[in-house]
Amino acid sequence: MKLIKVHLVAAARPNFMKVAPVYHALKCEEWCQPVLVHTGQHYDANMSEAFFRDLGLPAPDINLGVGSGTHAEQTGSVMVQYEKVCVHERPDWTIVVGDVNSTMACTIAAKKLSIRVAHLEAGLRSNDRSMPEELNRIVTDALSDLLWTPSEDANDNLRLEGVPANRIALVGNIMIDSYELLRGRIEAENAKEALGLTDREYAVVTLHRPANVDQKETLRLLVEKLVRISTKIALVFPLHPRTRQKLVDFDLLNWLERVKSIRLVPPMSYIQFMSLVGSARLVLTDSGGVQEETTYLSIPCLTLRESTERPITISQGSNRLVSVDNVEASVDGIIGEGGPRVSCPKMWDGHTAKRVVQSLKTNSDIDPR
Ligand code: UD1
Repeated sequence: MKLIKVHLVAAARPNFMKVAPVYHALKCEEWCQPVLVHTGQHYDANMSEAFFRDLGLPAPDINLGVGSGTHAEQTGSVMVQYEKVCVHERPDWTIVVGDVNSTMACTIAAKKLSIRVAHLEAGLRSNDRSMPEELNRIVTDALSDLLWTPSEDANDNLRLEGVPANRIALVGNIMIDSYELLRGRIEAENAKEALGLTDREYAVVTLHRPANVDQKETLRLLVEKLVRISTKIALVFPLHPRTRQKLVDFDLLNWLERVKSIRLVPPMSYIQFMSLVGSARLVLTDSGGVQEETTYLSIPCLTLRESTERPITISQGSNRLVSVDNVEASVDGIIGEGGPRVSCPKMWDGHTAKRVVQSLKTNSDIDPR
């Protein structure tokens, strides 16, 4: 088999745990030369380097260094920089993961140069086009040559959008591979202890979606709810840089800082965060990945969003969509209940990277769509 050069695109925090298992698996294949491309969408040490370290990833082979900006600025910068790299490097394949701006931008740049693209975590749909990630998912999937899905609902979505069946491969949830890769270190970490917390007697909060944090009144109401909830259960709130900035801008950070039962902490490394989630009573989030990680760990999850692109986390029993109006009652409900009965979705088993490698090997010469 001829040597295939594969670009693996990493960009933002939720990408790194999807890229790492695939990178490690491809590195073992003699027919493949994986090249790690970081777009620089996330650049703070605790949003990027800490994850590379935890996940055993080497420094990126290529860093586009795009940084922050408006959606068009960020997407445009990634396209301009990645196009230059592709012209120079001519990869045989570009693998993109997830649904961030860089995912879509690299897909467009590569496809315009007739480079084949594979999308890992294809087919997820919230059907809410006000979410930037939904637009990224739709464009990426419309252009990709090979679509690797995490669950059956994603296959259904792609079929409904007219993607030919031979382009779609159900490979399972790649994030579970990362968890399993690091299970020993996660279980040894005991992140709660450093925060003075006890098993199942605290909740983890993560919020960063524009819909929750970008408007003053919405964020104020959320802060008010968190303060009320913290009278019933201790909260740990790792602050995303975007959320911290908004709390400062809206003069809300002081309010949270004054509450003893709310621990505001900087963004955590992957191992620390998974350790903290694993011992929590519940998680309150607007993240995509955290909805899946809590399903895998059977931890009750309340998702502060109107829709989810990961409905399987709801049907499996761990996740519930909530609003600012009913979040407090939902927390009360969980505190009063026993744990949820959750069954683990098919192929969330730690072997997704192997299936990805096999699919790439089999389809490496597939005609572009
Ligand atoms: C992005 C993704 C989102 C994902 C999230 C995880 C898009 C459209 N959004 O959102 O899907 O859930 O990452 O974190 O791609 N910032 C820093 N340092 C960093 C990164 C960001 O200070 O390392 C600040 C900057 O002020 C920046 C802001 O956070 O403008 C937002 O960053 P950006 O990457 O644009 O979006 P996220 O909200 O992180």
